[in-house]
Amino acid sequence: MKIIGTGSALPEQVVTNEELTKFLDTSDEWIVSHTGIQERRILKEGTVAGLAIEAAQRAMEAAGVAAEDIDLILCSNVVSDFVTPALGCFIAGGIGYGGQTLDVNGACTGFIKALDIADSYFAAGKAKRILVVAAEKPTYLADWTDRATCVLFGDGAGAVVLERTKESGCLATHLATQFNADFLNMPTPPTNCPFTQNKGREGYMYMNGQEVYRFAVSSCVKDLTLVAKKAGLALSEIDWFLLHQANQRILNAAQMRLKQPGEKFPGNIGRLGNTSSACIPILLDEMTRDGRLKEGQIVAFSAFGAGLTHGAAILRI
Ligand code: ACO
Repeated sequence: MKIIGTGSALPEQVVTNEELTKFLDTSDEWIVSHTGIQERRILKEGTVAGLAIEAAQRAMEAAGVAAEDIDLILCSNVVSDFVTPALGCFIAGGIGYGGQTLDVNGACTGFIKALDIADSYFAAGKAKRILVVAAEKPTYLADWTDRATCVLFGDGAGAVVLERTKESGCLATHLATQFNADFLNMPTPPTNCPFTQNKGREGYMYMNGQEVYRFAVSSCVKDLTLVAKKAGLALSEIDWFLLHQANQRILNAAQMRLKQPGEKFPGNIGRLGNTSSACIPILLDEMTRDGRLKEGQIVAFSAFGAGLTHGAAILRI
């Protein structure tokens, strides 16, 4: 498979660290030094579906394809505007598509899971072109009284159009789950069912930052080493490492452990924060549009998130 078009969409509302200090006991200095984040986008007006459709349309325009050229919409999403219908259905409606949609809730690893599923569809001869869209609104999940988590997130959407090729550009993938719901979770919202008792925490995201940090660095390094080996490549032969944008310190630690130059680890966390599974396709779109990504280059992706899920993939662009 090959990426033939990329797109992304961001909410207009920019929220700086300074604005957070109006209601949180925090500072720009703390947030920047502990995370690398300076500002993020928050979906104030509009919908997740609106962002997803905009990103999808941009990717389709870049690829020069219409809805009838697509055989599958693969949507990565944790929380959308509705619990049901799934976000993939809204994207189908938005672009005028009537075929199969498949939604993946893989937390921040969702985009890599979608790439892996797309590769399997192509290998099975079940699709010629697949639209992958990752659209997320983690700012809705965060507890805005918890300064250790809410400062990290931003909203956004990224998309790619993939096409089947004779020789797949997907050189290797690896996906795994180390089940642990204690370090990172969000309970389902309360119910008014008279037969059910609402137990557990309030309905916001809970995160044990230090445990997630440790897990993130080690899984990222292990997964990237593993996929490089599977693809028969030395790490030095990889042109770019596009990592889930969770924290600049995680990116730096992974880069040091992999012993690769910092220039190979592009990022947008400073401007966008952690947009969950949308981080990687947004970054991919930025790098495609500004010319950093060039045909023939080898790109490694790595992500980790609630589950705890983690994984990596290597693609020839
Ligand atoms: N402003 C000021 N102080 C803060 C803030 C803040 N925003 N947040 C926490 N602190 C304080 C804490 O209260 C604590 O104070 P104390 O010592 O008086 O108790 C102190 O800073 C240190 O807190 P730690 O939690 O130890 O800070 P740490 O250096 O670990 O940084 C962070 C916290 C940024 C959350 C870090 O642990 C991290 O990035 N973890 C990984 C998170 C992550 O990757 N999540 C996403 C993965 S999955 C997904 O994408 C959904």
